[in-house]
Amino acid sequence: MNMFHILLTIFVLVTYSAHAAVQDFCVADLKVPESPAGYSCKPPTNVTVDDFVSSSLNFAANTSNIINAAVTPAFAAQLPGVNGLGISIARLDLAPGGVIPMHTHPAGSELLLVTQGVIKAGFISSANKVYIKTLKKGDIMVFPQGLLHFQLNAGGVPAVAFASFSSASPGLQITDFALFANDFPSSLVEKTTFLDNATVRKLKAVLRGTG
Ligand SMILES: *[C@@H]1O[C@H](CO)[C@@H](O)[C@H](O)[C@H]1NC(C)=O
Ligand SMILES: *[C@@H]1O[C@H](CO)[C@@H](O)[C@H](O)[C@H]1NC(C)=O
Ligand SMILES: *[C@@H]1O[C@H](CO)[C@@H](O)[C@H](O)[C@H]1NC(C)=O
Repeated sequence: MNMFHILLTIFVLVTYSAHAAVQDFCVADLKVPESPAGYSCKPPTNVTVDDFVSSSLNFAANTSNIINAAVTPAFAAQLPGVNGLGISIARLDLAPGGVIPMHTHPAGSELLLVTQGVIKAGFISSANKVYIKTLKKGDIMVFPQGLLHFQLNAGGVPAVAFASFSSASPGLQITDFALFANDFPSSLVEKTTFLDNATVRKLKAVLRGTG
């Protein structure tokens, strides 16, 4: 072997062993709180196939609530196997009249696939441009990370969609719940949103305890 081949062989061996040492997965250890980098890994000997499998999206969720809709997440907290992989999924159920109110996922972009019914969806860019489309079965729509967006039932029948995310824990912050469903003082809500006190009082009365 000449020097080139020796170096090449060493390079291949080093690369191979470095790659072999990389962990295949980091199944979430849900006993320890999540950090900004995700959950810590369960010991590999404790990992089973059920950490990678869930049947929780098989079923329509209960939509008897104030938004007539439900989001069933399969994020790292529900599906520990996605931890560290930068992916996750959720199911959306929208009864007739249902709406997933204006919200953001701070940590991930979303790809929505409608599988039943008709959904009107949209997002607002940082330049305050609005992008809205009515989606039917089989249509997909992308919602870029962090932007305000919504989905609502635009047909007279229950609608179902599946949303995949570019994060194992994309987060979900619903704007109205953030403003009105907590103990954020009404006077500050009025000052910081320019809403009048009657509107703030009414929304707080309706949404308090729902967030
Ligand atoms: C791993 O499994 C062992 C034996 O069942 C158990 O004692 C231990 O608490 C588990 N560790 C974690 C982090 O789940
Ligand atoms: C759905 O939720 C509502 C409100 O919490 C409850 O009254 C109702 O029994 C639930 N329906 C089912 C089928 O679980
Ligand atoms: C609500 O706003 C109106 C109009 O600005 C004002 O007259 C009224 O005193 C306010 N009520 C409370 C409870 O702050």
